[in-house]
Amino acid sequence: MVRSRTRSDTWSLPRAVVELRVRIFEKVNGDRAVTLPNAIHGPEVFERVYAHPAANGRSEGAGLSDLFWYWLAPGPEVHQEHLEPGERYQDVAATTRRILAGNSADLAASAAHAVAAALDELPDTRVSLVRLRDLVMPAWAAFCYELVFQEPCPPVARKLITTHADDVITALKCTGLRHPRRRARLTAYLRDRVAAGHVPHRLPASLSLPEQVHYLQGTFFNTAVVQLSEATAHVLLALARHPDVQQRLGADAEGDRYLAQVLDETMRLYPLFGIAHRITTDEIPLDETTVLPAGSVVCFSYPDYHATGYERPDEFDPDRWANLAAKDVHHIPYGVAANRPCPAWRLSPLVLRAAVREVLGRFRLDSTVSHTRSIPHRAPCLLIPRGLLPGPRRLSALRSFVRLRDGVEDVTRGVRQLVLGTLMVLHARRLRPAERYFDGRRAGGCPAPHPERGVG
Ligand code: HEM
Repeated sequence: MVRSRTRSDTWSLPRAVVELRVRIFEKVNGDRAVTLPNAIHGPEVFERVYAHPAANGRSEGAGLSDLFWYWLAPGPEVHQEHLEPGERYQDVAATTRRILAGNSADLAASAAHAVAAALDELPDTRVSLVRLRDLVMPAWAAFCYELVFQEPCPPVARKLITTHADDVITALKCTGLRHPRRRARLTAYLRDRVAAGHVPHRLPASLSLPEQVHYLQGTFFNTAVVQLSEATAHVLLALARHPDVQQRLGADAEGDRYLAQVLDETMRLYPLFGIAHRITTDEIPLDETTVLPAGSVVCFSYPDYHATGYERPDEFDPDRWANLAAKDVHHIPYGVAANRPCPAWRLSPLVLRAAVREVLGRFRLDSTVSHTRSIPHRAPCLLIPRGLLPGPRRLSALRSFVRLRDGVEDVTRGVRQLVLGTLMVLHARRLRPAERYFDGRRAGGCPAPHPERGVG
């Protein structure tokens, strides 16, 4: 097994948690796991193996799948990300493409409107201290509801979706346990709506009604909401920590071009995927003498790949994109075209730009917290209404408070993540949702997902 390269030698608890997580990922896959790029096989091998036709297994045969299925329940067996290649996958992927297809201007307007509604909740006469992920998640819940149901999102649905998505991402980051009952409330709501024929899109015919419900829940009310919320939190936090960049954007002299550069740089430095994994279905040569046997689990490390080939890779510098095209450098925020890229690669930057514009139009952002790829602190930030000039002493006191609280939370959170992460890994290994599912399929039945009891 080849270890993933670390990017700094200094020790810190949050970094130790992330490294431990990578090691756990490798460990649960046993000796058949390899992480790319690594000290021997660099970015060119990463690209070649990722795009190889035999790097196409998604869930069956990887210990890691049990963990992801556990975290992304209910219905992980019909989540597009987890489906093995084949007709069912094609049917599901085509449905996702149909739901995501839309007129660019309409999509941007819908995103701006949803974010505006979330911002309306904040006072415009004083500074607010928010966690950016919590602030924007209800907005993306409403946006995704509108994508699926093609009608304005009622508050009850927005609450159910936000609670569900928050539970998933909290468990994934090991800052809390998962709560299957909270998630089940959204399932029940969606079941009624799908059964009543309220979804105006053609849903995958190869799925039963309960599976269609789980597909919608997993892809649109989990992945889409979580990813858009995380991405927005990252870009806004980056702006809050780089006032010069924020000011340049605010001046709007360069329009969307500079904003696109800011987004590219944010996604380069803080890719939403830490690791994407595949199970190989045939041999893949790594070099002249080494071959990955069929059945290997390949972990593709986005942060390591994104750090290669750039000057000062650890620095946030949107200007580096002034003369760079993503296709010419190591930049794959939405995956690789040859191997199941993100179906929202067109929609996401479009709606993120609209969201950022909406926030910057109303507030100046300021934050003194740390910025890591996993932002387990949910991006604390001061929002200063435009037109309000808080006294320098007040602002300085608020900034000190935010920094201090972040430092304290970092330590206690690190310990919590270790404990809760271990509990959930053990629980997932006991339940073995993916392994049981595939065992059942091999036995010739149509396996029902394991009746799970949550630990939370
Ligand atoms: C900024 C936002 C987003 C980023 C950076 C992002 C990133 C990614 C990446 C890197 C992958 C490929 C991982 C791999 O190779 O296994 C992926 C896959 C996927 N994403 Fe996104 N994503 C975003 C938003 C969304 C949204 C809004 C949706 C809405 C449905 C979505 C749905 C999916 C699905 C279903 C897959 C699995 C594709 C497949 O296996 O066919 N993502 N995403």
